[in-house]
Order: sequence, then structure tokens, then C-alpha cells
Amino acid sequence: MKIPTLIIPLLFAFLLLGCGSKTDQIVRSPGGKITIQFKLISGVPHYSVQYNSTAILSDSRLGFRFRDTTPLENNFEIINTEYNSFDETWTQPWGEVKDIRNHYNEMIISLRENNKQHRQMNIIFRVFDDGIGFCYELPEQETLKIFQITDELTEFNFAGDHRCWWIGAYQGNRYEFLFNETKLSEIDTVHTPFTLKTDDDLYLSLHEANLTDYSSMALARVEGTKLTCDLYPWSDGTKVKASIPMQTPWRTIQIAEKPGDLITSYLILNLNEPSKIKDTSWIKPQKYVGIWWEMHLDKSTWGSGEKHGATTKNTKKYIDFAAKYGFDGVLVEGWNVDWDGDWIQNGSIFNFTKPHPDYDIDQVTQYAASKGVRIIGHHETGAAVMNYEKQMEDAFAYCNKYGINTVKTGYVGHGQTIKRIDENGDLQKEWHHGQYMVRHYRKVVETAAKYHIMLDVHEPIKDTGIRRTWPNMMTREGARGMEYDAWSPDGGNPPDYMTILPFTRLLSGPMDFTPGIVDLFYEEYKPNNRVNATLAKMLAYYVIIYSPLHMAADLPENYEKQLEAFQFIRDVPVDWEETRVLNAEISEYLTFVRKDRNSDDWYLGSITNEKERVLKVKLDFLDPDKKYFIDLYEDGADASWDKNPLSIRIRKKILLPKRDYMILKLASGGGIAIRFTSMTEQEWKNYLEEYNYNGPVKEFHHPDPTILVEEYLKRDANGDFLKTDPWYKTSKLHPIGSGWDQAYLISDYNTGPIQIDSSHAKVSVIYDMIAWITQNIDGPYLVFKPEQKKVDFELENTKWGWRIDRPDQPSHILPKVIINRLPDEDQQKLNIYLEQHQITQLLE
Ligand code: NOJ
Repeated sequence: MKIPTLIIPLLFAFLLLGCGSKTDQIVRSPGGKITIQFKLISGVPHYSVQYNSTAILSDSRLGFRFRDTTPLENNFEIINTEYNSFDETWTQPWGEVKDIRNHYNEMIISLRENNKQHRQMNIIFRVFDDGIGFCYELPEQETLKIFQITDELTEFNFAGDHRCWWIGAYQGNRYEFLFNETKLSEIDTVHTPFTLKTDDDLYLSLHEANLTDYSSMALARVEGTKLTCDLYPWSDGTKVKASIPMQTPWRTIQIAEKPGDLITSYLILNLNEPSKIKDTSWIKPQKYVGIWWEMHLDKSTWGSGEKHGATTKNTKKYIDFAAKYGFDGVLVEGWNVDWDGDWIQNGSIFNFTKPHPDYDIDQVTQYAASKGVRIIGHHETGAAVMNYEKQMEDAFAYCNKYGINTVKTGYVGHGQTIKRIDENGDLQKEWHHGQYMVRHYRKVVETAAKYHIMLDVHEPIKDTGIRRTWPNMMTREGARGMEYDAWSPDGGNPPDYMTILPFTRLLSGPMDFTPGIVDLFYEEYKPNNRVNATLAKMLAYYVIIYSPLHMAADLPENYEKQLEAFQFIRDVPVDWEETRVLNAEISEYLTFVRKDRNSDDWYLGSITNEKERVLKVKLDFLDPDKKYFIDLYEDGADASWDKNPLSIRIRKKILLPKRDYMILKLASGGGIAIRFTSMTEQEWKNYLEEYNYNGPVKEFHHPDPTILVEEYLKRDANGDFLKTDPWYKTSKLHPIGSGWDQAYLISDYNTGPIQIDSSHAKVSVIYDMIAWITQNIDGPYLVFKPEQKKVDFELENTKWGWRIDRPDQPSHILPKVIINRLPDEDQQKLNIYLEQHQITQLLE
């Protein structure tokens, strides 16, 4: 058929538009793994996301619907596409990491309606190596001015039915729920961060960044695995009230090959604006104690009466405690009047400048100052925000007067109950997560900044990274915290809770979890509640949970009874130069290390769910040129969260051998906390002197310390360690501690095998020289001193695959070392080793 020449160009144009090929726009991440593709399908904007060749999101639509005006959802044409690249490294004034690289490629699509109105909408896509972000921009234009969004049509059309972790939206307790783990196709409407794991073992987190004057985004499942943005509404059903120019928050998807890479992704912060506070020198991370846990235990009350907690006397006790143990702040809750009666209902009468008669604020703040401690203010609003807004300036000025530079705010209130008087003088009720409250929370942050006040917000709006712009927005709650262990009727946070929280809520930013309970049972006050974790796990929380304000939440008298364990809480910093994840599996276990921003010390926290575990971690984060002491706080050999959670084994000032890995032994529901203290040359010398040694130091490296480790790391089909290992089954021996004690040492000093001792500074007698083994080593930093001497072994802590029998024997005889039932294969390896090293002194 002959086509008239006139219609050829038209047909061509139609084909291009119809097929979408001309309108396909693509942008890739700097490293090239992530691709976003934008296209118009019959004039409707869509985007899709790919990781290498794996589809993450299939075509997902974009657009808006409005009240009283036609939607911005179709009939578009692309009028411009702009591509940019950006790469800078910026420094956080405080944080989980000091320097952050912000490196992305950007694609800005400018769309115009193909109708009389010609309304315009831009979509800005940014692709990083760790994920994507995009937002809408409604620029200045004649045909769109003031508007009300009734729906943001953004879809997330997931390409598979992934496993996911979530809490439901639109519930009374805001964000305070245990997480569900289901298939994507089983969710209804959920909060973000929303975390997924694909069948290809990719980890995804869907969230938003820079939530400013907009409503917060929940996610609703439309069908199958397709989700849509579900904005929290105002009381009249409108989602967002806005005018042009408007930019929405960024919709973000972090994409990682390992769960730990979600933790060290700073994409959300990168999508926020740089600090608006020029001089941040007044903003300081800190640790605090406070009159808090005792109220949650019902030991004392917020309200007046005999049990009133916030008295002058009690506050002074906490100030003394803080000063003695080096804490910066003392939180005082229930200090102001009006907590009597049902304070949750009485928010509208709270007064933020009127202390309780038995709380002498002049006296306590002066006393605190004399001890180098500051009072942390508390503004519980009962979610009566109008009352708070009226008093806010006065309240912060009042803080200034008393030297209070940190305030914890609170918004206890359930569901859509926040009172607002509208333009007509009518009472309306709002959600914590809607635009009304987003505006309120931001107003508080900005006002606080004016008064140089740092904030810790409870019952907050979710974190979307605004701490970059407002670094006085330190930390917030926004999930079930420690307090649930005090009073929750469901028995508190279960053992797997903290193995999920870092990969969900904590991805959004710091949390004031208020950890540090060391008295795990409080029968006297709450017989039906307890902490569902071991004591060592409690300590590990300080490394696992990032917060620039961390509380030591327990009662002073309880810490006084656990001073050894408390030492870790005293030592652990709250400002970090670097954070790394050594291993992690969501809802199973995780190990984080963080480097102190103000020293060369590193801290490790590792925790597990109900399963006990042996984890092998690499120590390559340490500086190879430095020597370290370690303080090790681990579950006792008989510890378990349910039966014996207080059993803890603490070993201090152990010399860390130069080596590349370490074994961590975690009890069921347990954990481990380690401080790696970098030693100066002088400290190293002192250390040697302490042990009376002034001869040469021999470093000994075991050729293959992993032989037995690998054996231990075998798992059964359920992922359990060791259980199917025949040796493990038949042997009474089992790992009793962390360290290196499963790897055996054979000295090349012709001394015969030496039992690896898993406790600190045990001394072995070997022939005519003393070897002191500073910890459970397999070789490095064996310190030898030529001297014929017998020193007793301590046998208790020495069993991991080996057993030492030391029947009474004359001192000149070698200790008798028995290898206890090594599996054949290992026995062979050992024999070969012995032969190669011409070691003949092995006694059996
Ligand atoms: C709930 C907060 O999470 C808690 O920390 C505080 O003690 C109470 N509200 C009272 O303000």
C-alpha cells in the first residue's frame, strides 16, 4: 500500500510516542549497577528501577490528584531532560560516621500537560551506588497556584513477592509495634522504612528523605506486589495543603547486596540539605542518666504525692551519680506541675515554666553546674500541641535561664486524636504523621535551634534525615523502646526485636531507645515483666543502636551492684568516626563495630535472637600498626536470655594478639560488647612491666588457626551451628567463650603443646621458660621469659576442644596435655603439623 507522504511524519511521531521509545529516559548510578528508566506510557509518567540485570521495580506510575482541580496524572509530554552529576564529601558535626560521600547522577524530567492548562511538573531522579531517590517539583506557573493534594499517585511496583519486615500504619500507638515478617503480597498498609529481601538476596529499604511541610508517606498494597504512596490525611481527608513552588520529600529505595550495607548507606542524609546552623559548636553528643526508669517501674510517680520522683533530693542523687561516673546529663521527668490525674488526657494544661513545689529548679541546676553536669529538660505535651506552641518560646527561654541545653519532648496520644482548632474555630483531630504535625515538629526544631537547645523527641514524626539540616535534632524515639520491658502486657521486647530494629526503624536515623538496664528482673515493682535479653546483650546495644544521646536508663543503685558491667556503658562513646557491619542477617544476628571519633579505640557489639551462635568476625578494621587491649563483656558459659541472663563473663585489659579474626560466642538471646583500646608505646611498655618482663618479645603466628573454627562454623539444615557435628555431639566439650580458644597453639619453642587459655593473663609453665598468654591466643604475642619455673594453671576456663590434665607432678615435669577427642581429620592435620615442626613433646 502506498502511504501518502504527508502522513509519514505524523505516523512516525505517533509510533515514537506510542511505543514509548522516544520518551524513555535513563540514568545510571556512578558505579553503573543501578538504573532508573523514565517513560511516558500513553502520556502517563512511569519509572522503573533495575539493579544490574535484576528488575527491582517494574513500570510504576507517578502523578497527583487534587481537590477542586483536575489531576496531574496523564496527557504529558516531555519538554526537557537534564542530566547532572554530583560528587562531594561532607562532614557531619556528629554522627555514626564522620565523612559522608554524596555521589550521584541526576536526571530531571520536565513534563508539561498536553492540554489547555499546560501545567508543568518536574521529576528529579538521583541515582547513587546505594540506591535511588526521586521527588516531584511543581514549579512557578500560571495555571496552578494554591492546591490541596488528595492523592500522590506514586507507585512502587515490586518485581517479586519478596520477604519483608514491617509495622502497620494507621494504628493507635504510632510507630510502637513489633515487626511483622511476611511476603510482600501479604501486607496491607505499612509504615516506612519498609525493608525487603529479594529471592536473589538483595536487600531493599523503602523510605523518604527530607519530609518538610508535607504529610508522611505510608505504603498501601494495591494488588499483588504493587504498592502505592499513601499519605497521612488531615482531618478533612486532604493529604497535603500546598502552593507552588513545591517540592515533595524524596521517595527513596536503598539497595544492598548485604543487609549491613543498608546500615552504612547514608543516602537519606545525602538527600537532605546542608546544615542551616552555621556554628554547631554548642551541639554535643552526650550520655545521660535520669529520673525515668523508676517511673516506668512504678517505683515513683510523675505526679505529686509521696512517691513523686522529680524531687530536689532525688535529682541531687542522680546528679551525684552522673558526676561520679562521668555522665553529661540528668533527665528529670515529672518536674513540672500538672502531671496529676490522667496526664495523657491533660496535655492542654501542661505548663513548661512552672516547676513542682518539691523541685527547686534553682537549687538543682546550680548543684548540677557545680558538679559539671547538666539537667536535661522534659516537655511532655500529651500531644496537646496548641498548648505547647503557645508556650514554646517561653519554655526554651526558661531552659536557657537554667543552663538546660537539651530537652526531651513527648507527644503521648493515640491515633487520630491531636487537637487542632481550624480556621473556622472548630475542633479537628489530627494524626501524629500528617502535615499538621510535620509542621509542628519542624517548628519546634527551628525554635529550639534559636535557643541553642538540642532535642530528643519522643512520639516523634519519623526520621527522614533532617538532622543534616538541623543538627540540634539529635535523636528520637519512634519505635518500641526499653520502656516496653518495664510494663508492656505482652511481656516486652522479645529476643529477636533488636535483630530487626536496626534494619527497619534505625535505618531512618538515631533512636533514643534508653537502653542499659542491668537489673534484668524487677519483681519488686513489676513481677510480670523483665528484660528479655542477657546482660551482655544489654551492653552490646550501645554499639548496635546509634544515638548521639544515649541513656544509661537503670537506677543508680542497680549500677552500683554491677559496676564491672557498667564500665562498658561508661566507656562507650556516642560520637563515631566510622561504622562497619561485620556480619548480619535480619532477625537472626548482627555484629557492628564503630570507631570513636575522639580516639583510636573501636567498639564492637554483637547480638543474636533466641539462637545461641558462634560467629567468626574479621578484625581487619583495626589498624595493623597498633597494639590493642580489649575489654570483653560476653555471655557466661551458662548464660541464656530466659534461664540465666545475668551470667556474664568480663575480661579486662587483655592484650589483643595480632591476628585477623576472632570468634564470638553468643548465648541464646545474648550478645557481646568489646572495647578495643589502642595502646601507646608507653602503655605497651607498662604492660610488659606489669608482668615483670623486660626480655625480648616473641610474636608467634599459628599457621592455620582456622582449622577447628571451620569445624565449629558448620551448620545444620536449620542454620544451627555445631549441632550435627559428630565431634560436638559426642564430646562434652563445647565453646565456652569468645576469643580464639578453639584454635590450639603449638609453640615452636620445643615446649610441647600449650593449652590455649581463654581467660586473661593465665600463665603456662613450659620447660624452662615462662610463657604468659595474655588471653586465649593461638600464637601472637606469646611473651616468653627464660626462667625455669612452675606456675599453676587455672583449668576452669580452658576447655575448647582441649583439656589439660595436671595431676600432681613435680615442677620440673611438663604439664600433661591431652588432646581430647579431636576429630580424625583434625588429628591428622595436627600430626602433620607436629611432624613439620619437629615437636615431639606431645603427651597423650
Ligand atoms: C513516653 C516516653 O516514651 C517516655 O520516655 C516518657 O517517660 C513518657 N512518655 C512520659 O513523658
